[in-house]
Amino acid sequence: MSFYDEVGGAETFQRLVHEFYVGVKADPELRALYPEEDLGPAERRLRMFLEQYFGGPNTYSQERGHPRLRMRHAPFPVTLDMRDRWMRHMLAAMDTLELDEAHAEAMRDYFMRAAHMLVNTDDTPHASL
Ligand code: HEM
Repeated sequence: MSFYDEVGGAETFQRLVHEFYVGVKADPELRALYPEEDLGPAERRLRMFLEQYFGGPNTYSQERGHPRLRMRHAPFPVTLDMRDRWMRHMLAAMDTLELDEAHAEAMRDYFMRAAHMLVNTDDTPHASL
């Protein structure tokens, strides 16, 4: 059984990603980075990606090709602040699921590493030399 099946399959990922975007919509600074007026397509892309990553259907790559997440995030200024906002909404979304602790831990660990890898813009104040 894949991790995807163990955590409840399509329904779990649908709920997770939906709750995540409820958080994004309520966070104007993070929301401003998303280019599309309608977050529905972005929600669908993230859902397909996560389903695939955790061992479910590979619809993401059939539609979008290789994930190349760092490259796909290059157009958006992912600062430490934005990473933290993203993580906060994802952890809150995870809390709405009834995952057992081992699965929750594995998912949190993945999100933390991936979100950090995607930081591409400095937001720390520079000392003036
Ligand atoms: C675990 C961390 C993350 C994962 C797995 C992830 C995953 C994804 C995926 C799969 C897409 C769609 C790519 C495509 O097919 O075009 C995407 C888009 C996007 N991500 Fe992330 N992301 C993560 C972190 C972040 C963070 C920290 C930010 C902070 C700002 C961010 C901002 C965006 C934006 C603005 C888009 C464009 C929305 C769209 O039209 O799809 N992501 N992300």
